[in-house]
Amino acid sequence: MPSIAVVGMQWGDEGKGKVVDLLSEQALHIVRAQGGNNAGHTIVAKGVEYRFHLIPSGIISPHTKCYIGGGTVIDPKSFLEELSALTAHGIHFEERLFLSRYAHVVLPYHRLLDQLSEKAKGSAAVGTTGRGIGPCYADKTQRHGIRITDLCHPASFRHQLERLLPAKNEQLHHLGAPALALSEIYEEYAGYAESLKSYVAPVEELLYAAAKKGENILFEGAQGALLDITFGTYPFVTSSCTLAGGVCSGAGVGPSRINQTIGVAKAYTTRVGNGPFPTELTEEELACFPGHGAAREIGTTTGRKRRIGWLDTFLLRHTCALNGVDALAITKLDILDSLDSIKICTGYENTRSFPARIEELKGAKPFYETLPGWRRSTTGIESYKDLPPQAKAYVRRIEELCETPIGIISVGPEREKTLWLDRFF
Ligand code: IMP
Repeated sequence: MPSIAVVGMQWGDEGKGKVVDLLSEQALHIVRAQGGNNAGHTIVAKGVEYRFHLIPSGIISPHTKCYIGGGTVIDPKSFLEELSALTAHGIHFEERLFLSRYAHVVLPYHRLLDQLSEKAKGSAAVGTTGRGIGPCYADKTQRHGIRITDLCHPASFRHQLERLLPAKNEQLHHLGAPALALSEIYEEYAGYAESLKSYVAPVEELLYAAAKKGENILFEGAQGALLDITFGTYPFVTSSCTLAGGVCSGAGVGPSRINQTIGVAKAYTTRVGNGPFPTELTEEELACFPGHGAAREIGTTTGRKRRIGWLDTFLLRHTCALNGVDALAITKLDILDSLDSIKICTGYENTRSFPARIEELKGAKPFYETLPGWRRSTTGIESYKDLPPQAKAYVRRIEELCETPIGIISVGPEREKTLWLDRFF
C-alpha cells in the first residue's frame, strides 16, 4: 500500500496527528493538503510534547520528507514561529520540508476581517479560530488572493498589495477598524519571504516523482469531515475540503494515487466552535465525565474547552461513506475508563439520511444504546486481546454500526499506547 490518507471523521481534534506520527515510521513522504494554522495537533514522542499547526506532524520522524500542498493557506509568521519552536526541539528541516508555490498567503487583513466579522455576527458567529483562514480562502475563490510564489517575488508582491489593499481597508472601515499601511505590510512580509523562500519548491512534481518510484506517501488530513466546506454542518464549518477527496486537489496528486483511507474518530465526540451537536452531553452527564483537563479536551490552537458528546455512529457511518474509509482508528478509548455506562448513538428519530439542513440537525433526537463501562484503566494495555471484555464489546459495536473495520485503537497520547488490529503500508 504505497499511499495512505489519514482524515478526521468528526469535527476535528480526533487525534490524526498521533496516527500520522505512528504511520510515518514507514512512510517516506508526508503531505498536508488543506487548511492552515487553524489546525492543531499535539504529539507526545519519547516524553516530549510537540505542537503542530501547519507543518506535517510526521516531521519528527527524521527519515521523512514533509510537504505543504497548494491547497493550504499559509500565515508566514506562524509558519516561521512553528519552525523555530520545532528547531528548539532539535528537529532539522533542510532538504526535508517543501512548501508549494501555489499555497495562498494569510495576510494581516485576513486575520482582522475574520475576528471582526465574527464579532459583528454576534450570536450567529461560527466560532472560528480567528486565524484569517476563511477570508483568505474567500479571496482565493474571488481571485483576490496572493500566493506564496507572488510573496517570494518582491515586485509582484508589492504590485498585488497595491491592487488589493484599498478594498480591504474599505471592508475594515465598515467593521470599525483603522486602515492598514501598505508599507508596513510590505516590509514585514517581504522579510518573512526571505526567511521562508528556501522551503518553496515544486511540491506537486516532487510527489509525482515519489509516487512513480512507488515510495510510501502519507497524506495528513486537517480538521474533520463535519467541518468540510461542502458536506459539513454548514455554515459552522471551515473553508476547505477536509475529506479524503480534498487530499488530491490540495496536494496536486491524482485520485489513483491514494490507495487506502484511514478515518480517525474519537471513542466519543467533541467539537469546538458553534453549531449543532446532537449527542452533546447534558450538564449532568458532563459532571460524570472526566474533566476537560484530564480528558485533554482543551484546544491546541485557541485554548478553548471543547464541547463533549457521546459517540455518534449515525454521523460516523455518514462520514465513513463520504471519505470511502477502509479502516477506522479509534482514539482516546482510555478517557472512557472510569464511566459506569457509555451511550452510543445509532441514529436520529424520523430520518434515515444524515440531515443537511442545520435546523434539522439542531432538533435531531438521537437514539441511544447504553453499554456497560469497564471501570478499569486501559492505558497500560499493550494488546487488543487484553482489553476488558466491555471495552472489546464497545469497539466491536462501533465496527458493526459503522460497517467499517477498526485497525488502530489508541489508549493514551504516547506512541506506544496503541493497539494495532491491522497493519498498514
Ligand atoms: P476556521 O477554520 O478558523 O475558519 O473555523 C471554522 C470552524 O472550524 C470553527 O468551528 C473552528 O473551531 C473549527 N476548526 C477549524 N480548525 C479546527 C481544528 O483543527 N480542529 C477543530 N476545529 C477546527
